[in-house]
Amino acid sequence: MLQPPDITCFLFFFLSLTDTGTVEVKVSDSAVKVVKEQDVFIPCTISGYGSTELDLQLLSVHWSRGSDPVYIYDRGSPNPIRTGSELLNTHLIRGNAGLYIPQAQIRDEGEYTCAVTLNTETSMGQCRVEVSVKPSARLVPSDVIIEEGTERGVTCHANNYYPEMIKFQWIKHLNDAQHVVLRQGVSTNEPLENGDGTFNVTSQLMLKPSMEDDGEKYSCIISHRSLENDLVLDFTLSVKVAKLKIILLGAVSGSVAAVMIVMCICCCRNIV
Ligand SMILES: *[C@@H]1O[C@H](CO)[C@@H](O)[C@H](O)[C@H]1NC(C)=O
Repeated sequence: MLQPPDITCFLFFFLSLTDTGTVEVKVSDSAVKVVKEQDVFIPCTISGYGSTELDLQLLSVHWSRGSDPVYIYDRGSPNPIRTGSELLNTHLIRGNAGLYIPQAQIRDEGEYTCAVTLNTETSMGQCRVEVSVKPSARLVPSDVIIEEGTERGVTCHANNYYPEMIKFQWIKHLNDAQHVVLRQGVSTNEPLENGDGTFNVTSQLMLKPSMEDDGEKYSCIISHRSLENDLVLDFTLSVKVAKLKIILLGAVSGSVAAVMIVMCICCCRNIV
C-alpha cells in the first residue's frame, strides 16, 4: 500500500505530465547583424504552450535593449516604443514573437531581451544586435608621382564607418600572384568620431623610391565588420627623374658639347 508522501509525489508527477508544459523562448545563438538603414528581424520563438494557437489574451512580450524598453505587447495591446518596431499578431498566435525594426540605426545596437509571460509563467532569451556602417574609402593623392630620392606619403582614408575597430594593410605586388605586406613606413592614426557615431581614420605609407621602382603596384587593404570582402584600393607608383639630376645632366652634356666644339675648332685650325 502506498504511503501518503508517495501519493503526493505520484499526483504531482501526473499533473506535470498533463500540464501544458513550461513556456520557453528560443532566440538566435549568434549576434543578429545588420547594416545601417536596413530592416532587421530579431528572432524569438515561444514553445511549450501545448496548443496549436497561443491565447493572446494571456500573453505579454517585453522586448528591451539593455534596460530600455523597445516594444511591449500586453495581452492584446501593442506598444511600440522604438518607432516603427512591430510584432505581428498573426505570427504571435503561432509562437513567433520576433521583433521587426525598420531602418536600423547605430543606437539600435545592443543586447536585446525577449521576455515572454504566458499566464503567470515567464521565460526570456537574450541576443545581440550589431549594426554596422561601411567605410567610404579613397587614396590621397589618387595619382602617386614621386621624384626619385624624395620621400612622399600616400594616405588611405576610411570615412564614416561603424564600429570603430578597423584594420589597414599595405601591400606591394611582386607580380600577379605574389605580394609582400609592408610594415616599414606604415602608420595608422587614431580614429576621429563624427557627430553621428561613425568614425574617420587614415593610414599612411611613406615611400622614397628610386628609378627602378617606377611602375610598381601597391594596395591599401581595409578590413571591417561591415564588409563581406575587404576593400582594396590599388595604385601604381610613378617615379620622376630628380630635378637636380636634370640640371646636372644638362650641365654635364652642355660642358661635353662645349669641349667638343673647342676641340673641333682646334682640329680644324690644325688642318688649315
Ligand atoms: C570625416 O569624413 C567626412 C567625409 O570626408 C567629413 O565630411 C568629416 O568632416 C570628417 N570628420 C571628421 C571628424 O574629421
